[in-house]
Amino acid sequence: MEEVISLKGLSKAFNKKTAVDSIDLSIIKGEVFGFLGPNGAGKTTTIRLITTLLGKDSGTVMINGHDIDKDPIKAKTSIGVIQQQISLDNDLTVFENMVCHAKYHKIPKNIAMEKIERLIDYLDIEEYRNYKINNLSGGWKKRVSIAGALIHEPPILFLDEPTVGLDINGRRTIWDIVKQLNSDGTTVFLTTHYIEEAEVLCDRVAFINHGKIVEVDTPENLCIKVGSTAVEAFDGHKKTEYSYFSSREAANAYAGTLGSEYTVLIRNTNLEDCFVKMTGDSVGDQK
Ligand SMILES: Nc1ncnc2c1ncn2[C@@H]1O[C@H](COP(=O)(O)OP(=O)(O)OP(=O)(O)O)[C@@H](O)[C@H]1O
Ligand SMILES: [Mg+2]
Repeated sequence: MEEVISLKGLSKAFNKKTAVDSIDLSIIKGEVFGFLGPNGAGKTTTIRLITTLLGKDSGTVMINGHDIDKDPIKAKTSIGVIQQQISLDNDLTVFENMVCHAKYHKIPKNIAMEKIERLIDYLDIEEYRNYKINNLSGGWKKRVSIAGALIHEPPILFLDEPTVGLDINGRRTIWDIVKQLNSDGTTVFLTTHYIEEAEVLCDRVAFINHGKIVEVDTPENLCIKVGSTAVEAFDGHKKTEYSYFSSREAANAYAGTLGSEYTVLIRNTNLEDCFVKMTGDSVGDQK
């Protein structure tokens, strides 16, 4: 398995408050890797550090074998970034924005035109090519951002909260684009606080909370670690208690011991359960 991103002891503080706390991480070629954590956990800061949009305090970042301190240009040509805040020029059209991206990457004009046409086709944005960004919905802006980030054909793509603010159709469209890119060979690193998004897209997930990595594994293994069957017991007033078991039989046996005042639901454990159990926090918590 080929490692395409390696982080060792990556740290960053803002005004003495630690945002990213000595992160070690290894991303494997061809995977969709999800960074899952609540607001303020340090997801965006980590992406900005890896992609050199922000300077780190300490640690090393290797991208495709290139150290971002020693070989920043080679490291940067391997990556495309779609930031949490969309960074497109609102007064330019979709096509003009793509031309700007090509110029930024110093792609010769004739090659750039070919690449832009291919991307317009790949991401199905022909209908909107002459629309100003200002006149597009959030979902289409996201799609155009992805097109721009792909102009130099990076083998690794970072997406920071790719579907935040999108309706369910917009979200599913972005999911399909990510799946398509990944099946065409792109390694994807995305952040999200949507459990469903991580479950649908990610081969492996890291839980991040208060700047620290809490766990890294496949969604399936995380659920096995916690116990793959969940029992929700509602006491009829305010409180639901969650318990986890390694088998349905064990869950049923436990449910049988609960008094008749409880309403009981037995179901499969999901990533949200894992996050809460492993961090003691909720993924949706506002910090
Ligand atoms: N430029 C900055 N100056 C000061 N503090 C910052 C800055 N950027 C981030 N922080 C702080 O660092 C911490 C981590 O923020 P970050 O944006 O990385 O979180 P996040 O996991 O991406 O959250 P969200 O889900 O809301 O996007 C927060 O406490 C945030 O307030
Ligand atoms: Mg963020």
